[in-house]
Parts: sequence; C-alpha cells; structure tokens
Amino acid sequence: MIVSKIENILNSAVEKLGIEKHLSVSFSNMPALCDFQCNGCFALAKELGTNPFDLAQKIVENVEEGDLFEFSVAKPAFINIKLTQKAVEEYANACLNDENGGLAKHKNPQNILLDYGGANVAKALHIGHLRPAIIGESLKRLYKLLGDNVISDVHLGDWGLQMGLTALELYEEGVLGKYFKEGEDKPLTLAMLNYAYPQASKRKNEDEAFRKKAEEWTLKIQNKEEPYYSIYKEIRAVSVADIKENYAKLGAQFDLWYGESDASDYTAKAVQIIKDRGLARQSDGATIVDVALPTENQPIPKKSPDEVQRYLNPMPPCIIEKSNGASLYATTDIATILMRNQTYKNLDRIEYVTDARQHMHFTQVFRVCKMAGISPEEQTLLHIGHGTMNGKDGKPFKTRSGDTLKLEDIVELLINKANEKLLSNGGQKNDELALKIGVSAMKFGDLSNTVGKDYLFDIDKFMAFEGKTGPYLQYSVVRINSILSKLGDIKGGQITADKKEIRDIVLAILKLNSAYEICYREKSLNTLCNAVYELASNFSVFYNNHSVLGEKDKNLQAGYASLLKLVRKKMIEVLNVLAIEVPEKM
Ligand code: ARG
Repeated sequence: MIVSKIENILNSAVEKLGIEKHLSVSFSNMPALCDFQCNGCFALAKELGTNPFDLAQKIVENVEEGDLFEFSVAKPAFINIKLTQKAVEEYANACLNDENGGLAKHKNPQNILLDYGGANVAKALHIGHLRPAIIGESLKRLYKLLGDNVISDVHLGDWGLQMGLTALELYEEGVLGKYFKEGEDKPLTLAMLNYAYPQASKRKNEDEAFRKKAEEWTLKIQNKEEPYYSIYKEIRAVSVADIKENYAKLGAQFDLWYGESDASDYTAKAVQIIKDRGLARQSDGATIVDVALPTENQPIPKKSPDEVQRYLNPMPPCIIEKSNGASLYATTDIATILMRNQTYKNLDRIEYVTDARQHMHFTQVFRVCKMAGISPEEQTLLHIGHGTMNGKDGKPFKTRSGDTLKLEDIVELLINKANEKLLSNGGQKNDELALKIGVSAMKFGDLSNTVGKDYLFDIDKFMAFEGKTGPYLQYSVVRINSILSKLGDIKGGQITADKKEIRDIVLAILKLNSAYEICYREKSLNTLCNAVYELASNFSVFYNNHSVLGEKDKNLQAGYASLLKLVRKKMIEVLNVLAIEVPEKM
C-alpha cells in the first residue's frame, strides 16, 4: 500500500534523527498542493520541546526520497508528499493487472451473521423497512468483497400478535372456513391479506372481545395447536412470497429466510439457561433480568416531591417472560442468538441493522446473552442503528394523509419519477429501466449519508442525471461501455499519467481503494459514495478534454482504453457493493 510505503520512508528519517516515534500520513486536504500530508510534526515537536517547522525540515532532509515520492515542508509545519509520475503509473498499471483492482483483502476473514430486513409477515412492508434493506445489503457486499464470510438473515417478524389478529380477521371474512369444515371458502389472496391486518389492527383498539380472542389465537399458533398452526403457515407462505418480491425489487438477497418463529424452539432453552445462571428474578408476574451497569439508572433529583422519579442513563431490566407466557421481542432475539451459535460454530460477529430507536432493545439483549454465556466472550454483538428518512418538514417521511408509506408506494414513486426523467431526456417510458434508475437514485441518496444520521428524502435531487447521484454513476458506466464498444477489440496498453486529468483519475482510484476500509470500520457507506463520485467526475473531465475515439496515436489510444477499463472495473465494483445495477442503455 502506498500510504504505508510513504510512512516507512518518513519514519526511517525520524529514526535516523534518534526519535522513537511514529508519524502517520493521510490523504491531502489540499490536492492542488500535494497528494498526501503528514500533520504529526506539531505534536511531536511539542513533545520534544523543539520548533515544529525546524523538525519537519530536518525530517525531510533525512528522507531517502527515491523516484516515487517527493517530500516537502509547508508552513507552519506540514510535510507534503506528492507522487511522481512513475508512482502514479506504477499504481495504475498494478491495479489494472490485479484481479482485485488494487484492493487489499483481509488476511483474517471474519465469520459474520448479518441480520437485516426484518419484514413482518402479514403486514405490508413499509418505509421503515427500506433503510435496513439498503444498508444491510451493502454492508454484506462490502464485507464479502473484503474477504469475510457472511451469512445474511432476513429475520422475519412472524411470531407476534399480528398473526392471531390477521388469522381471526380472515376467519371472520369467511376465508378460512376449510380449516373448520364450515362449507364454502374464499381463497386466501394477497389482497385479502393486505386488507386483513390493518382492519384487525383497527378493531383490536375498539373491540375488546376481538382483541382477547386474537391474543388467544396467537397463543394457540405459538403452541402449534391445530388448525391454527396450519392457518398460520398458509398466511405466512402467501405473505413471504410477496415480501420476497418486494426485496427482490430492491436487490436485497438473503441467504436465510428465518423468522422469529424459527427461534421459538430455542426460547424455553434460552430462558432456562438464564434462570440456571441465577440471572432472572420475578417482578409483577414477569421474569426479568437486570442489565444496567453501575453508571446507569442514576436517579435525577426531584424538583418537587410529587414529581415522578426520572433517571440519568436509564437502562430498564430486560423482560424475558410475560405473565401469560407469550413470546417477547427480546426473548425471541436472545433465543435467535442461541440458535445461531448452536447452528453455526465460530461466528466472530453477529450484527443487526435496524432503526436506531431499537438501540436499547439490542443493548439489553446483548447484555443478557453475554451474562448467560449464550454468546461467547470473544464474539462481537453489534447493533448498527440507522437514522430516519425524513420529509421536507423534517419529520419521518409520510403520505400526504399522514399515513406510513408502504414500500410498494415508494417503489412506484421511484418508477414514475424515473420514467418522467427518461421522457424529459427525449427517451421513452420503460418500467424495467425506470426501476433500475429509480432504485439506484434511492440507494445512492440513502447511502451517501452517514448511516446513523437522519436524512432528507429529496427524490428530485436523488434522481438528477448530473451531480452526485445514483443515475449519474450508472450513466457514467453506460458511457464508458459505449466508448469501449466503439473502440472495438483493441488491445489495451500501458497507462501513462503525463496528463493532470489522468493523474487525478488514478488518485481517485487510490482514494477509493482506501475508502473500503474506512467504510468497513465505520459501518457506513458514505465515504465510498464520495470516492466513486470523485472517480466518475474526474473521468468526465478527462473525457471532455481528450478524444478517446478520435486519437490518432494508436499507442496513446491503447493506453486510454486501459484507463477506461480500469475506471469501469472500479466503478462496477463499487456499484456492486451499493447493489446498484448498471443498465445497458440510459
Ligand atoms: N421486525 C422488526 C420490525 O419491523 C425488525 C426486526 C429486526 N431484527 C431483529 N433481530 N430484531 O421492527
């Protein structure tokens, strides 16, 4: 790696001066001046009690420069490093010939189970399921690209009250008669299902008897009592088929289609382990585990005696059993960790991508699993919490009438907007293409933000064909494909970096290759999004200034062809991680 080569040279000079410290190097903040910079002289000089500028100069005087890097000092005490043309060319050609395009894979691949998606059976997928699908899918692809072994699990919400509610509503609509041998029967369609849950959900708040009965049905399902369990299985099958279609449109692919129900066989066992370890206690008929650290739950002094007691860093106990024995969200997640660790040996990490608002839930679950030994000490359990997607009013994005937006509606919106764009660019309406463009706009708009932060859903901005957007990147690759196909079957040549525009492209690739590690560490794809955009726009500058197709010098043209192939390879590699498809034409 170039950065470590530079650091080695720099630190040999530091050593020569008899200083036992390590200086590090980063990408330059001022690309017009240099490619890399070292800011460490300030702190080092302070430690040594010398003048920072003099120190920087002494170090640079002692550097054995070679023919790849140029070192210089800039006031007040920066060491600037520039790559020579030779270094740029060596790097470009090495990337071109390397099957991973210069990307360093991990030496110790990790075994990771990634839990994202989280769609709920019998309920329509909604906007809240969009971000985990987008982010989770990209993280999975990033981990895999860097060499990790990843298992993805959609972890369906398929074991809650919505099951009993939906089943009962369907039964009352005359859909499930066959299970009770009650004469005529309406078939269970998706439309029926989509109607049933919202209807039942409304009724449960108005009709006490209905809610009670739905709870009973839920318990019967959870106890696998017939015919309720068979009814459940039919509902689940219809719903999962629809969920699969929705995820496919977003390009989210899961290895495992397990749900909360699959962990149900492990629930009793998990609760037993927790009890055997003496971690549980009874409270109001429920079984709970105290998980707070000594620094948490600090009482905040009351301003008046009748004020309710509030706490600093609240961390309530984790409830693992309700009085009626029904499954709880936390218990299910604990049982799922037990199941995963019994099914897959040596999971180094289990990670979850969900809304940041679930952070306390996961903290509780993880602590219980660690205390109970359900997750081995050396295993990392991590919650990657994402922010919300907000509308222009700064609040979570909703429909005009204030309802939660269904995923289907968003996909339709994306297709419509992309079709509008195609038409206004003189093209034709094309739903298949519009889906690819629309989804890419959505994904890039999402992923170019830090995962943990909220962001503004601005569809017109996301959908622009110019600027930092998904469609622009797709278009960049489509354009390179078209140039390369016009060039025909020409043999690629060596890349020469005698032009600034080419140098800038290669440096963008260098940055991009290091962006992968940054994203891996930060569990956020925004740095990679910036890097791929920089590459695409640098390429565009080159392409606008130099005629690749019209180049008379065949040697030069062959070098250009190689450059184009390299840019395409890197761009497709990133788009693949972002799960953005490149259309044939745009
Ligand atoms: N089904 C949940 C929801 O819709 C998300 C599940 C997240 N994953 C998990 N292991 N708890 O909110």
